[in-house]
Amino acid sequence: MKHLVVLTGAGISAESGISTFRGNNGLWENYDVRQVAYIDSWYTNKALMLDFYNRRRRQLQQVKPNEAHLILAELERDFKVSIITQNVDNLHEIAGSSTVIHLHGELTKACNESKTEVIDIGFNDITLGDKASDGSQLRPFIVWFGEAVPLMETAERVVRSADILLVVGTSLQVYPAAGLINYTAKPIYVIDPEPLHINHNGVTLIREKASKGMELFKAFLVKGKPLST
Ligand code: APR
Repeated sequence: MKHLVVLTGAGISAESGISTFRGNNGLWENYDVRQVAYIDSWYTNKALMLDFYNRRRRQLQQVKPNEAHLILAELERDFKVSIITQNVDNLHEIAGSSTVIHLHGELTKACNESKTEVIDIGFNDITLGDKASDGSQLRPFIVWFGEAVPLMETAERVVRSADILLVVGTSLQVYPAAGLINYTAKPIYVIDPEPLHINHNGVTLIREKASKGMELFKAFLVKGKPLST
């Protein structure tokens, strides 16, 4: 089976009702992204950080995978599919994808402050005073700006073994994740409604929302249909 490696970002979950990060004037549901996405903010305002991620976790209960997530899961019939996602939602897993690498963490998990202990919390809130077993405040298992991305090496290895790289719904502005496209010399397909300028040879842009773009891409991969809309 050919190995299809898929790098996803916030855009793949947009049609499920989860806002993207950029393109909303830096606001995420009225929070300033800069205040809730940096490790420094954790040390200055834990209550705000916990509140933000508690809200996002609760929202996860209301949303469902869309056609794009579902098609990616379906493609496992014909391809070995590895998903590398920057998303902290669990919509790929709910859609049925079996190999999902969460580069930036997972909302349904919590960890101690040194990130050495990770626990499943499902959709439950984390509140100030909830302690990990080492006595530190329990925190969301999220990779904030200023923190290491421990799964990068794994992701690089997976991209190197790709026969095809598909990129869906990411502005490719955040490193190191955005640099992953440089680990393959194989064809790269990008699904995004915006005209992304990607500095890389061999990129085919499919300018569609994720669900429509995935339908076209599946017909192309499985039935050899042209990628035009
Ligand atoms: N279908 C596909 N793509 C879409 C859709 C849609 N329906 N709607 C928007 N997009 C595209 C946008 O055009 C943009 O290129 O999705 C992309 C979303 O980009 P960002 O908001 O920057 O999200 P992402 O690339 O995932 O952000 C990377 O930055 O804030 C951090 O850690 C956070 O993981 C996140 C990382």
